[in-house]
Amino acid sequence: MNISGKTKICMSIGHPIGNSLSPLMHNTGFEKLKIDNEYVFTACNVKPENIENCIKGIRALGIRGVSVTMPHKKAIMQYLDDIDDTAVQIGAVNTIVNNDGKLTGFNTDWLGVVNSIQKVSSFAGKKALVLGAGGAARAAIFGLIKMGANVIIINRTDKSAIALADEFFCEYAPYSELERAKRMDIIVNTTSVGMHPDENHSPLPKQFITKEQTILDAVYFPYETQLIKNAKAQGAKAIHGAEMLLQQGLEQFKLYTGVNAPEETMRSVLIDHLKKQQI
Ligand code: ATR
Repeated sequence: MNISGKTKICMSIGHPIGNSLSPLMHNTGFEKLKIDNEYVFTACNVKPENIENCIKGIRALGIRGVSVTMPHKKAIMQYLDDIDDTAVQIGAVNTIVNNDGKLTGFNTDWLGVVNSIQKVSSFAGKKALVLGAGGAARAAIFGLIKMGANVIIINRTDKSAIALADEFFCEYAPYSELERAKRMDIIVNTTSVGMHPDENHSPLPKQFITKEQTILDAVYFPYETQLIKNAKAQGAKAIHGAEMLLQQGLEQFKLYTGVNAPEETMRSVLIDHLKKQQI
């Protein structure tokens, strides 16, 4: 252990937070770059009613960086000193950087989506389907539109898809028309369907997937979701949720430390860990 009085603290906050993979991912990165004497990463369970006090704590203790997860990504925004434009447009902050007491909010979730897809597909002019209309969907929609894709949103509750489509000036289709997925180039699942303990379900039936498509599942546990299995079976390009988690984390690492994260090391530790947990 390399922690000293000079070590800067980073942490994730969320509720619940017990299964957060951010400590594993970031601490492994710190170790690999031999900066684990400078930074350490932990996690704190923060109830919604304690969020304002939590921000006071971050200021009082001089916490260097904070990865913000559900359900705080929106609520935290009002307590920060500054929010970067992208996070304002997405309407959510998943990263806080503390520079000498000034707290700035960022959003790296959209980069998690874009950077993991762009390894296997281009975006310009592509038809992209976003399944879901929650917080993760907002980041995905923002990223896909920014990269030049034509986005269509489908959600179990049509009303939320319509509201998001209005806000981001894109299309929506009713849930009853899920079959339109067949004609899409890129599909991003941002719903929780398929997440443990719901691992036998897929948000998209196998017959709606074609081999020309790129499918990203934001669900990272189990490592191999039913949607990813379906995508592989159909010959589509399948991107695991772990890659999206990694990519958004690499951007956070850079914001906290000012240096590039060791991508391969952090990918391996995440995947190894998730595979061991495979049900
Ligand atoms: P997040 O911020 O992670 O996106 P969220 O805001 O709770 O989480 O959004 C969850 C998304 O998953 C929603 O789009 C939700 O659909 P509804 O708006 O209809 O609730 C979707 N979702 C959750 N369970 C689902 C299910 N069993 N079938 C289809 N969609 C589901």
